[in-house]
Amino acid sequence: MRNRSIAFVLISLFVWGVITYFLFLDRPIGKEQDKNLLTIQITKLESEVKHQIAINRELLKHIGEQLKKAAEKVPPEVKDTRKDPIQNYVHKAGERNQEPKEDKPKTSFSKETQKKTLPNGSPIIAVLVFSCNRITVQRCLDQLIKLRPNVDQFPIIVSQDCEHQQTADVIRSYKNQLLHIQQPDQSEIDIPPREKKFRGYFKIARHYGWALNQVFVEFGYETAIIVEDDLDIAPDFFEYFLGTYPLLVSDKSLWCVSAWNDNGKSGLVDEHAHNLLYRTDFFPGLGWMLKRDLWLELAPKWPRAYWDDWIRQPEQRKNRACIRPELSRTRTFGKIGVSNGLFFEKHLKFIKLNEQFVPFTAMNLTYLLKDNYDIAFVNEVYQSKVVSYSELKSGNIVVPGPVRIPYYTRQTYKSTAKMLGLMDDFRSGVPRTGYRGVVTFFYNKRRVHLAPGANWNGYDITWS
Ligand code: UD1
Ligand code: MN
Repeated sequence: MRNRSIAFVLISLFVWGVITYFLFLDRPIGKEQDKNLLTIQITKLESEVKHQIAINRELLKHIGEQLKKAAEKVPPEVKDTRKDPIQNYVHKAGERNQEPKEDKPKTSFSKETQKKTLPNGSPIIAVLVFSCNRITVQRCLDQLIKLRPNVDQFPIIVSQDCEHQQTADVIRSYKNQLLHIQQPDQSEIDIPPREKKFRGYFKIARHYGWALNQVFVEFGYETAIIVEDDLDIAPDFFEYFLGTYPLLVSDKSLWCVSAWNDNGKSGLVDEHAHNLLYRTDFFPGLGWMLKRDLWLELAPKWPRAYWDDWIRQPEQRKNRACIRPELSRTRTFGKIGVSNGLFFEKHLKFIKLNEQFVPFTAMNLTYLLKDNYDIAFVNEVYQSKVVSYSELKSGNIVVPGPVRIPYYTRQTYKSTAKMLGLMDDFRSGVPRTGYRGVVTFFYNKRRVHLAPGANWNGYDITWS
């Protein structure tokens, strides 16, 4: 006990030392402005310390549980199953739901699924589906199961938040075709008054944090595809991720593969360019693949809300890109959800879902590797003919090939994007689908690059 108090005093002194060091040595004080700055810094520091304490508490809890488990006397005949995190979880879930034993998923979630690859060397990729209280999750699950080329290669894990009974029943009806897990923490979240109306975003972030830990840490998968319960998928959804998997593994400047094109409306895409893929600096989400190492990097600082905008910040993105298709491999049907239906009515519902199967695994996709791509991309963009919006619209351009509409300010980007029907917003300074500042789309039978000056040297995070 004495040792603990001494440790406590020492830690407090240390924390205080750090605080005073940063606050007083780093910058001179005296003026009113500095005082405000100080207050902001202290508040920020305080919330960071609180956040860290919460994470440590979680960790301690986890360690405690592990120790308890290890201490339990396990009869030899069940020892192996209990070491298997998936089986282990199934047991726990079963206990909570008090399901009869025979209903528990078995075969497809045996230890085999924990391997990184199938016997033929092809990767095992977990499909993590997020659900809450919409029974229409059925629409998404039916498609995933119907199109899944191999049960062992793509184990489906449906993670459910919200404890909605009807939705749980729907998910359970798939029996051992998938694994149903439930987010156990349904406690009220402490939300600042001004953000009360965004409660849903806090719940989603909490759920994501928990479920991704289950998949990568508890179950030990190497790779996962994240799907939300309101997504339709294209016939080559699985083939797309399998085909791009080697890129994600070998190109460290990639951190995800996404099935989504933010500007993928009919009229802005080449409906014949089924096999065309791009790199993008804008994290698209909405059906995306990541590797465990990324999760392990993000997990310790996972945010309490708005996870997708958070992940787009430079501190997280670290200049990494995602692969995205010309024609989306997902489409959302979630008109009623956490965000308002207006965005759905105005934009999301027009996204065109690819209908033709492309054999990506049999194709050479090395053109998407950064070293190959950037040179070719920059050449194409900056050698293309400059046109104005009205020339493009009139369709009177005579030269063949791609064209370019330059932009130099945030405002001209936004107004041109608006006229063309593109998304005109920025996240951390990055326009949707942007790569090196360039937004590429298809308009009037022509590839168009809405592009900053050739001397572009990075995103301006004040553009919003
Ligand atoms: C939007 C994004 C979504 C992102 C979310 C978080 C679009 C079209 N969608 O959600 O990709 O993850 O913001 O910033 O841009 N859910 C829970 N718990 C809840 C409520 C919802 O787990 O309490 C799950 C839903 O089942 C769903 C996902 O979270 O899988 C997103 O919820 P949804 O209601 O579809 O919100 P969006 O506005 O689409
Ligand atoms: Mn949604």
